[in-house]
Formats: sequence, C-alpha cells, structure tokens
Amino acid sequence: CGIVGYIGKREAYPIILNGLKRLEYRGYDSAGIALYDGKDIQLCKTQGKVADLETKAETEINREGNVGIGHTRWATHGVPNDVNSHPHYSNNGELVMIHNGIIENYASIKKELTNRGYTFKSETDTEVLVNLIEDIQKQEKVKLGKAVQIALNQVVGAYAIAVFDIKKPNEIVVAKLGSPLAIGVGEDEFFIASDASPFIEFTNNAIYLEDEELAIIRLGRDVKIRKIKDDKLVAPYIQELQLNLEQIEKGGFDHFMLKEIYEQPSVIKDTYRGRLLADQGIVRLGGLEDHIEKFLNADRIIIVACGTSWHAGLVAEYIFEDLTRIPVEVEYASEFRYRNPIISEKDVVIAISQSGETADTLAAIKLAKSKGAFVFGICNVVGSTISRETHSGSYTHAGPEIGVASTKAFTTQITVLTMMALRLAKAKGTISNSAYMLYLRELELIPDQVQEALLSEDKIKEISAVFKDARNFLYLGRGYNFPVALEGALKLKEISYIHAEGYPAAEMKHGPIALIDEHMPVVVIAIKSEHYEKVVSNIQEIKARKGKIIAVVSKGDTAVRDMADYVIEVPHTPEALTPLVTTIPLQLLSYHIAVLLDKNVDQPRNLAKSVTVE
Ligand code: G6P
Repeated sequence: CGIVGYIGKREAYPIILNGLKRLEYRGYDSAGIALYDGKDIQLCKTQGKVADLETKAETEINREGNVGIGHTRWATHGVPNDVNSHPHYSNNGELVMIHNGIIENYASIKKELTNRGYTFKSETDTEVLVNLIEDIQKQEKVKLGKAVQIALNQVVGAYAIAVFDIKKPNEIVVAKLGSPLAIGVGEDEFFIASDASPFIEFTNNAIYLEDEELAIIRLGRDVKIRKIKDDKLVAPYIQELQLNLEQIEKGGFDHFMLKEIYEQPSVIKDTYRGRLLADQGIVRLGGLEDHIEKFLNADRIIIVACGTSWHAGLVAEYIFEDLTRIPVEVEYASEFRYRNPIISEKDVVIAISQSGETADTLAAIKLAKSKGAFVFGICNVVGSTISRETHSGSYTHAGPEIGVASTKAFTTQITVLTMMALRLAKAKGTISNSAYMLYLRELELIPDQVQEALLSEDKIKEISAVFKDARNFLYLGRGYNFPVALEGALKLKEISYIHAEGYPAAEMKHGPIALIDEHMPVVVIAIKSEHYEKVVSNIQEIKARKGKIIAVVSKGDTAVRDMADYVIEVPHTPEALTPLVTTIPLQLLSYHIAVLLDKNVDQPRNLAKSVTVE
C-alpha cells in the first residue's frame, strides 16, 4: 500500500491525490482520502484506482482544507471494496487513520474491543488499530501521540501509519515498523509518504523514519521523533534528496515500463560509472572493497531475493561460481527464512532487492545476521530499509523504477553482480589476466549492445501480433540464459496474464514437451555459446512436434534461422554477459503482447511493486 499526508498552508487535496498517483505502484485495488476542511472530516474512498477516487471525490466531498491523509491499497485483510478501503475512522468518529502493513494479532485485539462495545464496519486490521488507539486515549487520558505509542507496543506486525485527531487538526502522528515512511520537511508545511516521490516538487528535505519510531508532526514545530519501545527522543536527521521530477514522469513514452526498458543503456552505464575503468583494468565497488576479506574467506555465498531479483541472483550463481569458484546458493527469501537454514559466520549473504523494502527479503537478512553471517545488499532505492539493514552493499543506480514489471532493475542488478564477480575473481586469482581484461572491456560495451538489441522492437511488435492470443508460452534457455528464460516467462505472466513457463532447455524432454503442439509458442534463447549445438537440437525436437519457435539468436546466425518461425538477433558478447542483452527482446515481447491485449501494463492486476507484507 501507499500512504500520503499533508499538513501546511496549501490545499491538501491536489497534493495528496497526485501523491497517491505516484504511489500507485505500491498497490492499486482501492484508494481513499480524508481531509479536514476546518470543521469536519471529509472522507471519500472507493474500490479501484486513484483516478476512480478522483471522480468520486469531485462530487462527494468538499475538497478544501490544508490537512489530510490518503491511501492506495493492496489488499491483505478483506477484499478490495469501498468499506475496506482506507482511511478508517475510530468509533467516536474523531480519529482517522491510514496504514500500510499487517497487524498480525488484530483478531485478539478486535475481540477485546468488541467485548468493550466497539463495532467494526470493515474486515481490516487497520480499523482495529485505530479503535485501539481511541480506547487508549479514553482509558489513559493521554494525548494522541502517547496513545499511538501505547497501542503500537501492543501490536505484532508491520506498519507505516498516519493518524490524526479531528480535535487537534494541526497535528499528524506517524509511526513505522517494517513499512517505509518518509516525512518531507518544507517551510511551515510537512508531507508524509511511503517514498519521497509525492513531495519531490515541494521540498528536497526529508526525514526517513527508522523502524519502531514514532513522529509527531505539528505545524509551527519541529518534528518530534521517539522510539516506540523505550520512549527515547531521537534527533531528526534531515536528508537532502537526489530525486528529480523528470525521473518519475513518463517522458513521452506510452508507459513507464517502455520508458524503463529504453533507459537500460544509460542506467547500465550509471551502474558502472566510476566503478569500472576498463583501460586501467580496474573494477571496484566501495561497499565491496571495504569488506573484501569477508568474501575471500567465505565458505559459501547465499543469495536471497524474491521475484525478478531472485532471477538476477540465479544469473549471479553462474558467474560467481564460474569466475570466483566460491560455492553459491540462491534462495527464495520467503523459503529461506522459514526452513531453519544452516548458516554461520563463514557464510556471506547477498540480498538483492530493487525496492529495498520486500518483507520476506528483509526477514531473511535479519535471520542471516542473527546467525553471524555477513550480509551485503544490492538495492536500487537509496536509503531503503534493506540498504540500511545490511552490513554493506552497492546500489544499482537505475533511478526510480515505476512500472510494476521490473526491467531496468534486473539488468542493473546483473551489472553490479558481474562487477562483484570480476573483482573477487581477480583478488582470488581464479581468472586469467587476459580474461579479466576482456570482460572489463566487454562490460563497457554492453550499453551499446543493449541499444542495438532495442532496434528489434518493430520486429517484436509483429511477432507479438501473431502470438497475442496464445494461451500458453514456453521459454527455454541454458546456462546463463536459463534464468533469462524464467524472467521472460515471468514478464509475460505479470502483464499479459498469459500462462508462461521458463525451463532449462534440456529439461523440456522431461515434461513440458508434452504440451507442445501447433498452438504452442516456444521462445528459445539460442545464442552462440557452449550449449549452442544442444539448444539447436532442442529446437529440432520442438519443430518435430509442430511447436512455433521464436528464437533469440546471435547476430548473423543462419542455422537457427532456417528452423525457427521467427528470429530476433542480439549482438555478440561473452556468454557470461549475454543475459544483459538476451533479456531485452523478452521484455519487449511481453510489453507488446500486453499492449495489444489492452492490459494495464504499468499496473497489472493483483500485483504490487513493493511487497512489504509476507
Ligand atoms: C514484487 C514485484 C517484482 C519484484 C519483487 C521483488 O513482486 O512486483 O517486480 O521483482 O516484488 O521486489 P524487490 O523490490 O525486492 O526487488
């Protein structure tokens, strides 16, 4: 979910509404807003997108006022409908609250409150929490901030909340545990949001709350921050933001996803800028240099991640083992955290996360740390929870990724991981100098090669038109391109809702081959590599069963061209770097199929970009 709030001298409505639109990547099944118009709370909420909220608010509420809060939801407790949408009132109608996260012990609190006469309109955990706060206010006769603090000491779960009291409309209380929360500090005004994008045009100054912190934001005062557990005052740390408005706008593209696909040549360059100096044979990442001994002495590297980031981890497994000879395991963070993993201080854990907020990845990190492992983070969002929770790390510097389906985050993660592998291999002496120098030079050429791969877009559009109505797709690849096949299938599923499976090409004969007939498109990554001949044989097997073949091939390939129904060429690069180019046509293929099917590319149903619940 995404949360926004404003208190100051401007009209709150447009700021909150616009802010919610920017946060829709965090969830978009319902939305709501509560404004204080000087007399009453004006509340409007609806199932659907922020645009639906806008339409409804125009006719239903007075949109004036200088204080308010808003929410865009990704449902956890209770189906997406108007009633379950936030903000939620407390029973006396005086407190109004928004919440991102999950209150795990809400059922027992609800029972207790029900026994005391409280009633609930929605099925949400949030409505339980706001009533608990009201109850504490009444019982203990304390101010809002204190009541919130007492309540939060009773809850188990994760939250970023903002709550205000109609009797004290010059104050908003916010708190965080697990879910992100930023406070924009302007002149006599404050902004509250899940990330800084809603207030970037108003102020460059932001405070990022840490876990278990509560802030009282009052007009005419400095923000007062306390630790929820021990009540200690914390001095606010105001950071200057690097983000600019242009980075979060579409810049002439039809969708954020397409813009982000096209940004890849430049953001890959941003990722290695200052870190890779091929001429001088240097590759260095600050966060790695400081702790390189940890890696060199490690018995094992364990990579934890979710979704697309997990696929980047799988690519890394190949390159790390190949170049550094350090054993690597790649784990879904959600599985790792619950299976009592064997892990010690001799292990190094790499956590990969675009958002730096994914709840499962964060929990895996905490577990690894508790067992003494050194944890290195690869995040895109600067200052995110995971970037702060890890011992060290490297940012990908891809800029804000707004399309829910991840594209540039994936290629920049692979870029960082590749640089790490090269640096470690050099330090360990597991790579020859000539190979090392070759990789450095080739890595520097990747942005141009990605640019070249993007030239296939028109061809991919044609292929998309042919296959857009297929019910299933199979994606095959081997070696370094097996994870690329998984990622290609994931992209298609996410935005077109066509079922797709990624498979190691050689495994096809152990199952998926049964699905192949003349209706089955099979995307095969068949670039020149160690496995080329074997993949060609797989293509023959598909052909023999009348499957339709879309092959991604190395430039100039003729053998596959004769067999495949469609070929898409990508430029040559050493096999270890090929995922950076072969993934491009697969991103474009899923994009164009989704566009032709008229799907919501940037906000696919049921998904969210940043999953801060487990
Ligand atoms: C969600 C997103 C995916 C992303 C995954 C992991 O499922 O929709 O695009 O790959 O979370 O997110 P992270 O921010 O940790 O990389």
